[in-house]
Amino acid sequence: MYVLGIESSCDETAVAVYHASKGLIAHTLYSQVATHAEYGGVVPELASRDHIRKLVPLIKTVLKEAELIAKDIEGIAYTAGPGLMGSLLVGAATAQSLAWTWQVPAIAVHHMEGHLLAPMLEDNPPAYPFVALLISGGHTMLIEVRAIGEYRLLGESLDDAAGEAFDKTAKMLGLDYPGGPKLAELASKGQNRFKFPRPMTDRPGLEFSFSGLKTFTMNALHATEQTAQDKADIAFAFQQAIAETLSIKCKRALQQTQLQTLIVAGGVSANQEIRRQLQQMAAKEGAEIRFPRPEFCTDNGAMIAYAGCQRLMAGQTQNLEIFARPRWPM
Ligand code: KG4
Ligand code: ZN
Repeated sequence: MYVLGIESSCDETAVAVYHASKGLIAHTLYSQVATHAEYGGVVPELASRDHIRKLVPLIKTVLKEAELIAKDIEGIAYTAGPGLMGSLLVGAATAQSLAWTWQVPAIAVHHMEGHLLAPMLEDNPPAYPFVALLISGGHTMLIEVRAIGEYRLLGESLDDAAGEAFDKTAKMLGLDYPGGPKLAELASKGQNRFKFPRPMTDRPGLEFSFSGLKTFTMNALHATEQTAQDKADIAFAFQQAIAETLSIKCKRALQQTQLQTLIVAGGVSANQEIRRQLQQMAAKEGAEIRFPRPEFCTDNGAMIAYAGCQRLMAGQTQNLEIFARPRWPM
């Protein structure tokens, strides 16, 4: 079964083909970073327009690369939410139009389920059950995963998501959009000089709160001359605070659930320091840890094609309704 996957929830237009037994066949992506860079963040209207321009050509490219024709495709998966409404509608309308034309089922995929299943695209995928840490621009969640579709939320952020905290702090340090990877780069030149808190780690529970770190960044900035080294040291302190907080909470989640596998996914899981600290913690706990390859940490079509394929195989499809939810609990 070949499934086409479409991702258009934010600022990446991405398409992939996944086959139930052969695995990932082809994937491609157009990043809108250049479109939004001059505004310092994603402009929803411009994002939708770019998705409209790029989506159909990308679908053609992927089919060609996969050496497939329309009639080979047996299902079309698309990100139905959460995300920007205009952007989601482009993916939903395109997917449903193709599904109707090709007379195949369409399936609405939850973006965060896509992220959660991204480690399954790697060789030797993790076995269920496991704990999943999802860290993206919009979400920070710890989830107990028993099987596909069997998810129990263990904890989430009460305010800013981890990626959002990276992006906002990066802006305060004068870095361009997208700030997360730029802040990580700056932090690699920093030294251990400022001490930031590890929010909500001094009490039990698996909730997160990252918005307070902005105040520490601001205070640290004002206490210095704001030289390049000062900023690098602040970036270092911020990244350490996030990495250690995530590590403490993941350790707690593994102990609480008595599970031995941790998967980490979503854009922020591309961060090398966060990976390093989580790996260290997992080794100490005797737990296995898995990440997607860096290009499948951030938004991509492969994770949507994979999630859609699993759901189609489980007999789940959708009618021709254009289903798009900017807010959609998993
Ligand atoms: O999963 P994703 O591509 O999109 C959402 O679903 O939100 O995540 C994007 C987020 C952004 O906040 C971005 O700054 C962050 O992931 N990010 C990083 C890194 N790469 C992406 N944050 C820290 N370090 C990175 N290397
Ligand atoms: Zn995402």
